[in-house]
Amino acid sequence: MKTRRARPADLPALSALIAHYAETGLLLPRTERELRARLADFLVLEDVEGLAGCVALEPYGPHLAEIRSLAVRPGAQGRGWGRRLLRFALRVARRRRIARVFAVTESPEFFLRHGFVPAARDAFPEKLQRDCLGCPKHRHCRLDAVVLTLRPLSKCSDPLPVLTPAIPALPAR
Ligand SMILES: CC(C)(COP(=O)(O)OP(=O)(O)OC[C@H]1O[C@@H](n2cnc3c(N)ncnc32)[C@H](O)[C@@H]1OP(=O)(O)O)[C@@H](O)C(=O)NCCC(=O)NCCS
Repeated sequence: MKTRRARPADLPALSALIAHYAETGLLLPRTERELRARLADFLVLEDVEGLAGCVALEPYGPHLAEIRSLAVRPGAQGRGWGRRLLRFALRVARRRRIARVFAVTESPEFFLRHGFVPAARDAFPEKLQRDCLGCPKHRHCRLDAVVLTLRPLSKCSDPLPVLTPAIPALPAR
């Protein structure tokens, strides 16, 4: 079993894994087009059967990133794979000198076990702008935000998160 960055060949399995949990509302759905455009953000866990799990580390400027689309293969929960993916994502975030990572999730407890602390969702206006405002569930959202500081913001040359999305929004299909 190994962790690595996602490759184009992972797209069908990534899409199927995320769609599986999106159906039950545990993850936000991602279109194939969006996944292709965002493939560089994805890290995966692979075993002999293929894709065992995934996580995306989505940048919002140089100092802030979101942990998104964290999932392990259905039926394989509770084996430490989610923890392994999260730790891998945090290692990559540290290597990229990202100061803070956040998640907006149905499972805040999973993140709290790994050092994250609760945060207000509106502490991340970039996220609201990019994903939440267009979401049909926005007004009744049950998701919680959590955040982890990886290095003191005072050590950043620009202490404020950059509010402009790292890539422009995809045009509607
Ligand atoms: C959430 C998910 C990624 C966890 O992966 P996993 O491989 O089952 O979790 P692990 O076996 O690595 O568990 C690590 C720890 O977190 C705990 N944990 C696992 N899932 C949890 C959850 N949903 N809520 C709270 N704690 C959880 C485990 O009990 C374990 O605790 P321990 O360290 O005290 O033993 C996985 O259940 C999943 O794919 N869920 C569906 C998608 C989803 O909800 N993603 C998260 C939102 S971004």
